[in-house]
Amino acid sequence: MLEELIRSRRARYGVIGMGYVGLPLAVELAKAGFPTTGFEVDPAKVEAIGRRASYIADVPDAELAPLVASGKLNATLDFERLGEMDVISICVPTPLSKSRDPDMSYVVKATEDIAKRLRKGQLVILESTTYPGTTEELVKDAFEKSGLRCGADFYLAFSPERVDPANPRFGVRNTPKVVGGVDARSGELATLFYSQAVETVVPVSSARAAEMAKLLENTFRSVNIGLVNEVALMCDRLKLDVWEVIDAAATKPFGFMKFVPGPGVGGHCIPLDPFYLSWKLRSLNYKARFIELAGEVNTEMPHYVVRKVTHALNDDGKSVRGSRVLLLGIAYKNDVNDMRESPALDIQKLLEELGAKVAYNDPHVPSYRAHEGEGVHTSVPLTPEELRRADCVVVTCRHKAYDFGFVAKHARVIVDSRNAYPSSAPYSGAARIVRL
Ligand SMILES: NC(=O)c1ccc[n+]([C@@H]2O[C@H](COP(=O)([O-])OP(=O)(O)OC[C@H]3O[C@@H](n4cnc5c(N)ncnc54)[C@H](O)[C@@H]3O)[C@@H](O)[C@H]2O)c1
Repeated sequence: MLEELIRSRRARYGVIGMGYVGLPLAVELAKAGFPTTGFEVDPAKVEAIGRRASYIADVPDAELAPLVASGKLNATLDFERLGEMDVISICVPTPLSKSRDPDMSYVVKATEDIAKRLRKGQLVILESTTYPGTTEELVKDAFEKSGLRCGADFYLAFSPERVDPANPRFGVRNTPKVVGGVDARSGELATLFYSQAVETVVPVSSARAAEMAKLLENTFRSVNIGLVNEVALMCDRLKLDVWEVIDAAATKPFGFMKFVPGPGVGGHCIPLDPFYLSWKLRSLNYKARFIELAGEVNTEMPHYVVRKVTHALNDDGKSVRGSRVLLLGIAYKNDVNDMRESPALDIQKLLEELGAKVAYNDPHVPSYRAHEGEGVHTSVPLTPEELRRADCVVVTCRHKAYDFGFVAKHARVIVDSRNAYPSSAPYSGAARIVRL
């Protein structure tokens, strides 16, 4: 029955959590023909979808609007409608708590919301990044309290999301998707479902293997970024240009993969996800050493950038206290409007603690509030006057929207943490450049 509904693309599809992951996923399955409903707790997102207005840069309005207009895609605050769905994906946040342990409250809430309405023949797929064992131990056990049996009455799988915001080449459709069922039938049905909209689906033997594969991917990035960040610190001591060294190493056509250093790691994934794995391993009496070490190096990078600013000001006979510092980019990486865990926020805070007056410009983030209850920060215009006013400009993002020649023409000193001014490509401008 469910198999037939999936093959004919008549299965009603629900996505819980319509954020960076949920919205693009919902759009892709709706485009494949599935009647799709987004379940959200944020009324602003439900309202925006109703207005056919996308709030995620990777989903253009032109893609969203026809799906909403034709009734293929809608969003709701009404979780009662979960009972009508044949297939449900869970795409809610998995942050860390203050003590840096997994905060599973969003997954627990979504699980409870489904469990209350669970019926025979439904397939549920967890997408949120999490520690190995979550789908079986947390979701399946909660669902089976209803008396229904996994693999017989309902189906359950884990399929990690791999969305890479602002990646022009890879989206939901052409990024291979790993799927692991809690049991064989659940795995088959989840594979069949995603195969309708994703070019390559990669089934693995279990939900746990799929959970672990995602954490390997993110740990791989975190560790390699940690490595090049440490190489940047070493090159600084050795008075070498780290970018030149990395570019040279990257000419090796095998056995080397290029990663670049920067002001630190940000976003919802790299700074957080590996700690889901180390947390799980701690409970098994095992210390995940690479994860801890990479985390230490990466969180040190904003301090390193601040030291560069301090020295740059010192060279001009100035102290940090009282100096005006302009950050170019508050987002966590180039060309996105997402500023979760952004290292630029750490740099801003550290400089303010030292008494600097910090302003920022970011064409993707016109304003933001770092924490509830705090004041709103507003992006200053990138004018010759603003650049001249700053005692130091820090490149925290290399957004395509920036004209770095213009910046160098008007700024006095620039601390460049993103290789916006490669030594191999001379710029014309009066500014002194301090490279990472
Ligand atoms: N952003 C990425 O690049 C990315 C990439 C791969 C995996 N992931 C993982 O995907 C998951 C979701 O991340 P995201 O970036 O989409 O987060 P997000 O914050 O952009 O979106 C989550 C959405 O869920 C909603 N929400 C929270 N609780 C809810 C509930 N109980 N019911 C319904 N909606 C609820 C929020 O309002 C929000 O809109 C996380 O586990 C993350 O680690 C994210």
